[in-house]
Amino acid sequence: MTKHTRLTDGKPSARTVLPPWPLPALLAWTACWALFLTLHSLHLPPGWSLALATTLGAVMGMGARSPWRRLFVAAGFPVSLAASGLGAGLPAWCWLVPLALLALLYPVGAWRDAPLFPTPRGCLAGLDNIAALPSGARILDAGCGLGAGLAELHRVYPEARLEGLEWSWPLRVVCGLRRPFARVRRGDIWKEDWSTFDMVYMFQRPESMGPAADKARRELRPGAWLVSLEFEAPALRPVTVLHNPSGKPVWVYRMK
Ligand SMILES: C[S@@+](CC[C@H](N)C(=O)[O-])C[C@H]1O[C@@H](n2cnc3c(N)ncnc32)[C@H](O)[C@@H]1O
Repeated sequence: MTKHTRLTDGKPSARTVLPPWPLPALLAWTACWALFLTLHSLHLPPGWSLALATTLGAVMGMGARSPWRRLFVAAGFPVSLAASGLGAGLPAWCWLVPLALLALLYPVGAWRDAPLFPTPRGCLAGLDNIAALPSGARILDAGCGLGAGLAELHRVYPEARLEGLEWSWPLRVVCGLRRPFARVRRGDIWKEDWSTFDMVYMFQRPESMGPAADKARRELRPGAWLVSLEFEAPALRPVTVLHNPSGKPVWVYRMK
């Protein structure tokens, strides 16, 4: 391999057990709203109610695993409160719409893996120099979201047959419209047979990469590639780790 390799021994690390994402965010926002409405009903000045409920969200967000999740949890209440001011006169339940939308976009089956977070543009530049694929090779974006990863794969492998698999129906529909060059389906990446693919690309979560490595070893044929944006697959030895301006490493594995 050309860059750093850090192999794990597969033992679970001692870390706090959190409910699956985005449940912590939904719980925090619900708690913020409950506190705000309670304080409001007690006729506390609105500024105080807002400050205390926002503080609660910020404190609850501190337990989240990444900076953008902390921001997501903390900003949820004030953003939804600001939005509610724009729609004066609407019944209060309308402000549950963003939560319902979130539940639709990230159905329970996808909570264990990653919420929508797109592959940055240019992130996969140079991948074809490491993993050369013949024209017509089959590449799967496992959890394709809105298709940012498919666009990057298409840029690098214009002759490849690209497929996207996505658990969320709305994301699958929009992705299919945005990426007509790819075959986009709704499905579960863990139930899909990977054995016919020459490359499986993933941008999931650190916790997904143990099962992904096991599945790749079981199903991908020798010579096929597993490529993971940002997160390392434990117990697999990378051929290389690409580094690009986005700051997210690209872990490149070849099956033996
Ligand atoms: C971090 S986003 C990456 C999106 C896309 N691959 C990209 O790089 O732009 C992860 C996506 O995986 C989807 N996902 C998570 N678990 C999944 C599963 N078990 N099966 C299919 N899709 C899943 C999520 O809904 C989300 O859209």
